[in-house]
Amino acid sequence: MRAVRLHGVRSRRVCVDEVLPPRAPRADQLLVRVAASSVNGTDLRLLRGAVPVTALRGPFPLGFDVAGEVVARGPAVTSYEAGDRVLGLLDHGGGGQADRVLVPQSRVALLPAAVDPAEAGALPLAGLTALQALHGAAALHARRSPRVLVVGAAGGIGSYAVQLAKLAGAHVTAVARREQAGWLRDLGADEVADRDDGPLPGGGERWDVVLDTPAVLRLAEVGPQLADGGALVSTVPLSADVLRAGAGRLRRRRVRFAAVRTRARPADLARLVRLVAAGRLRVPVTGRVPLAGAAAAYADGGAGRGKLVVVI
Ligand SMILES: NC(=O)c1ccc[n+]([C@@H]2O[C@H](COP(=O)([O-])OP(=O)(O)OC[C@H]3O[C@@H](n4cnc5c(N)ncnc54)[C@H](OP(=O)(O)O)[C@@H]3O)[C@@H](O)[C@H]2O)c1
Repeated sequence: MRAVRLHGVRSRRVCVDEVLPPRAPRADQLLVRVAASSVNGTDLRLLRGAVPVTALRGPFPLGFDVAGEVVARGPAVTSYEAGDRVLGLLDHGGGGQADRVLVPQSRVALLPAAVDPAEAGALPLAGLTALQALHGAAALHARRSPRVLVVGAAGGIGSYAVQLAKLAGAHVTAVARREQAGWLRDLGADEVADRDDGPLPGGGERWDVVLDTPAVLRLAEVGPQLADGGALVSTVPLSADVLRAGAGRLRRRRVRFAAVRTRARPADLARLVRLVAAGRLRVPVTGRVPLAGAAAAYADGGAGRGKLVVVI
């Protein structure tokens, strides 16, 4: 079968390789015929060498998202059978950009007939991260008329976060390149700030939640612009040194920092896909490439905005 693999971070070489298909599913595993996956910021970070484990383990199968059809199941699988359409989040081993992949049933949810598998392939990692950052780490649902700032708003996580924050009744300010302003307003952003003016818009605004998807902010600089009880949520953990700066005063104001660690929770996947099926959440697909064209798409640096789908 075919699989998109990264061969060494120095060369940044991505190839569509012929590889052995997965063995028969064991225990609670499903063998899924992949319909679509997507390129996430995490795949791109692997390419940049920001996650060094790939350099040690030889060719690394890219793709953390999967949408497709169950073709076989392990003996301990209770919830799915052959022919079911599912979407899921693969673990740190990746492998979604391939003809077939093994995934435990605990990492998938059913894909309703109303949702296009190509769109579902762009939902898991970015959608779950946005959902869990906003409603888990930042407790958005417990805040009244919150003001939310999304940095990196045109990216995969950001473009879901803008919509999910809006659905939660927030006033949303998106930080992105100037040329993305119209597109982000269309997704629901109330205001768009030009990222060339810095990741934190001026004007003395107080935010209840700041979601920093490219992890460019420091608690010490954001703290004064967070409302009492506000939260800065990042996609990467900040160092203890960065956190200590100003932490005492911020603690008194109940300001907190959280780093989101995305989990493959089936209930969250089901929630996202229900929103999509109901037409309340848009999968921000801005490009589609066939599996055979994935290597070129990586060379071009991914989607630029929204989600780039790899259609198998
Ligand atoms: N902790 C976890 O469990 C977890 C889970 C998922 C993802 N992540 C991480 O989260 C990050 C974002 O993922 P993603 O899929 O959303 O990536 P993405 O689609 O590449 O989006 C990142 C966005 O951030 C923007 N950006 C980059 N540098 C910026 C800056 N200095 N100021 C303002 N905006 C900036 C990018 O704009 P341009 O492209 O125009 O530069 C892009 O729109 C990645 O590093 C990923 O590895 C972590």
